[in-house]
Amino acid sequence: MKRDIKTILCMAVFLTFVVLNFFSASAESADSYYDIEPALMNVCPNSIDIMWEFKDPAWAAVEVSQNPSFPTNATIYHTTETKEILKTTINGLNENSQYYYRVSQFGTTDPTRIKNGSFYTSKPIGNRDGFSFILYGDTREDSIFESSYYGDTETHGIMTNAIKTHLPKAKFLVHLGDYGYSGRRLSWIRKFFQIEQNLLKDIPLLPVYGNHEFLRETFKGCPAPVPYAGFGSGQTDMDSYLMPPPGAAHPFYYSYAYGNIQIIVIQTGTGDNDNSEDLYDENSEQYNFVRNTLISASNDPRIDHIFVAMHYPMYSAGKAESANLQFYYEDMFKYYGVKAVFQACSHDYQHLSKDGIHYLVSGGGGAPIDLNKSFNYSQTQAQVHKAEAIYHFISVEVTGQTVCFKTYKITPINPGAGTYQKTLIEQFCL
Ligand SMILES: [Fe+2]
Repeated sequence: MKRDIKTILCMAVFLTFVVLNFFSASAESADSYYDIEPALMNVCPNSIDIMWEFKDPAWAAVEVSQNPSFPTNATIYHTTETKEILKTTINGLNENSQYYYRVSQFGTTDPTRIKNGSFYTSKPIGNRDGFSFILYGDTREDSIFESSYYGDTETHGIMTNAIKTHLPKAKFLVHLGDYGYSGRRLSWIRKFFQIEQNLLKDIPLLPVYGNHEFLRETFKGCPAPVPYAGFGSGQTDMDSYLMPPPGAAHPFYYSYAYGNIQIIVIQTGTGDNDNSEDLYDENSEQYNFVRNTLISASNDPRIDHIFVAMHYPMYSAGKAESANLQFYYEDMFKYYGVKAVFQACSHDYQHLSKDGIHYLVSGGGGAPIDLNKSFNYSQTQAQVHKAEAIYHFISVEVTGQTVCFKTYKITPINPGAGTYQKTLIEQFCL
C-alpha cells in the first residue's frame, strides 16, 4: 500500500569544456509500479547487491546473465515473500565479468514492470590492474533554504548526469553521506534514488552514513512522517534502503576492498549530533573495529592503499574540523599507513594534508552551497592545498602503487535544460 506521499517544502584551470546534457526523462518520473528502480551497491569479485522498491507489495524475480538477451538458462532469483522494498545479494558470479540483469514483478510480461541494468564484477582482491572510482557527497536538496542558497533538485540532477557522463571508467561510487534532508522521511529517500536511478542502475554505490540520515523528522518544524513500522534499526529509515557490504561489521560502519585498495567506512554522527564522540571514542565498538581492520589491512600483502571514508571532517577549513576525531584516530591512521581520508558535511571542496595523510572534503553533490563562502585557514592544523565552495566530484584513479585524484568542478549553466560546465580544478598523485 502506498504509504508516504506528503510533499515536503520544508581552481588553477587544467581543462575546461562544456557538456550539454539533458536530464533523463526518467529522473523523478512517475512510475506506475516502482517507487525506486533497481540500484546497485557493493560490487565484489563474486557478488553484487541490488535494492529496489515497488509501489505495492509484489513477488519479484531477478534474472542475471552474461548474455544481454537473457537466454533460457539465465539465472533467476525469486523473492521468497511479497514486499515493497527488496534487497538482494546476487552470489556465485564470475570475477571481472560483465553481467546484465533485469528486475520484474514475478510473471509479468508488461515491459513497464521490467527494469534492466548491467554491471562489472570486480577483479580478485589484490589485483593491481588500474581502475577508478568516484567520490561525492552531500546531495541533499534543501527546500527549506533553497530560496536563499543556490541548491535544488536540479543541481543534484546535473551532478548525477555529470558523473554518469564521466563514466564508464569508474567502477563504483562512494557517497560520503547526507543523501537527502532526512533519512527518516521516505519521500526524501525516494527522491535521492529517483534522481540517481540512471546512474545507480549500472554503477554500484558504497554508502557512507551522514548525520542527515538520522535527522529527526520534526527537525526545523517539518511535519511528522507517516509511521513506517518494522523497518531497519529504528535510528533511520535509510538502512531499509542502503545495503552494507557483505560481511559488514555493522549496518553503519564497515570495510570494503576493491582490487588493491581497502576503504574503512566510519559513522561519525547522528541526527542530534553530527560529530558524536560516543560513536567512535576509545570505548566504542567502532573504535575497536577500525583499529582491528587497520591492523589486518596493513598486514595484508594484497592491499597497497588504505583509505578511510567518514562524513564529518577530521580536518577542514570550512565546517569546523573535529578535535575528537583527530584525538582518537590521527595517530592510528599514521601508524597503520592510511593514505587519504575522504570527508564531507562541509558543502565545498577541500584538499588538505598533515603528516603525509591527505584529507579531502567532497560535499558538493547538490546540497546548497554558499558561493560567497570564506574559508578559515587559521582554524585548521593541516596544510590547505585547495578550498573552493563548488559543486564537484572527485575521480580517484588507482594504477598499481600510484593513486591520482582529479577534482571536477561542475557549474550549472541552465539548470532547467540540464546544461553544465565541467572543469578540472585540481589533480595530484600519491
Ligand atoms: Fe552533514
